[in-house]
Amino acid sequence: MKKIMIIGIDIGSTTTKAVSIEDGRVIHKVKTKALDAVTSATGAFGKMIVENNIQIGEIRRIMITGAGATKLKDDLFGIPTGKAEEINAIGIGGMFLAGRDNIIIANVGTGTAIIDASSDRILHMGGSGVGGGTILGLAKKLLAVSEFKSVMELAERGKLNQVDLLMGDIMETDLSFLGRESTASNFGKMLDSARNEDIALGLINMVYQVIGMLSVFAAKSKNTGSVVVTGNGSSNLLGRRVLEEITAMYKVTFEYPEDAEYTTAIGAGLSACTVK
Ligand SMILES: Nc1ncnc2c1ncn2[C@@H]1O[C@H](COP(=O)(O)OP(=O)(O)OP(=O)(O)O)[C@@H](O)[C@H]1O
Ligand SMILES: [Mg+2]
Repeated sequence: MKKIMIIGIDIGSTTTKAVSIEDGRVIHKVKTKALDAVTSATGAFGKMIVENNIQIGEIRRIMITGAGATKLKDDLFGIPTGKAEEINAIGIGGMFLAGRDNIIIANVGTGTAIIDASSDRILHMGGSGVGGGTILGLAKKLLAVSEFKSVMELAERGKLNQVDLLMGDIMETDLSFLGRESTASNFGKMLDSARNEDIALGLINMVYQVIGMLSVFAAKSKNTGSVVVTGNGSSNLLGRRVLEEITAMYKVTFEYPEDAEYTTAIGAGLSACTVK
């Protein structure tokens, strides 16, 4: 029987992701740096085809989404090519990876989008420009490093009490559910003795606290107790630790599905399954 393959391509602000989907299953995944939209999309597509020996005739449709999607006007390589709206793509991909309907998604990419997704409607609740791009942008100036890996290596050896003003610095007792180790003010202490390691940890902590609190308010407004974290930022282990602290305080849990960085590309591809 002839295989029917759909390709989903997500041209994000920083990275481009491509996936192939067959029979509702994700088969191949490719990630490249986002250059201009056409180079990124064709590059990611080409890499997937060549590395996996895919025959062009097997591909029924390409679906493109993400910040750069509007730059592509025509079919790619003669294959019917459509556009998927990004919020819908995140919602569909998030539900697919979480394996259930009716979820709140925090998509942590260059920035952060919070989405309420169920099978009958996908709603963009809001978001924040605070995301992975914030960590990397501030790290460039404050720490003189430009790779995410370098920020993480520094942060792993950091001490938060060198940079953040903690509740314990200003109060002798706990304040409602805030313990003495909770942040009272991000970067509000910044001792002269603070090292790059401490600043790196302060950056990760600040960004994931913002993401966590946005997620908590979104979840509580929908009477749900969990949030599915997608995008590249889903796999950040120090970020997950910050979100764990938020779980302890606010009783909202965070889920990190496998392949979370491909959520948007997967959702774009799956959205084609409804197109005949
Ligand atoms: N381990 C990591 N933890 C958190 N963020 C990371 C990590 N590695 C890379 N990043 C950041 O992730 C961002 C890219 O993530 P992703 O590919 O999900 O975003 P995008 O789709 O390009 O952007 P957007 O969806 O906001 O348009 C970059 O800002 C990068 O600095
Ligand atoms: Mg994205």
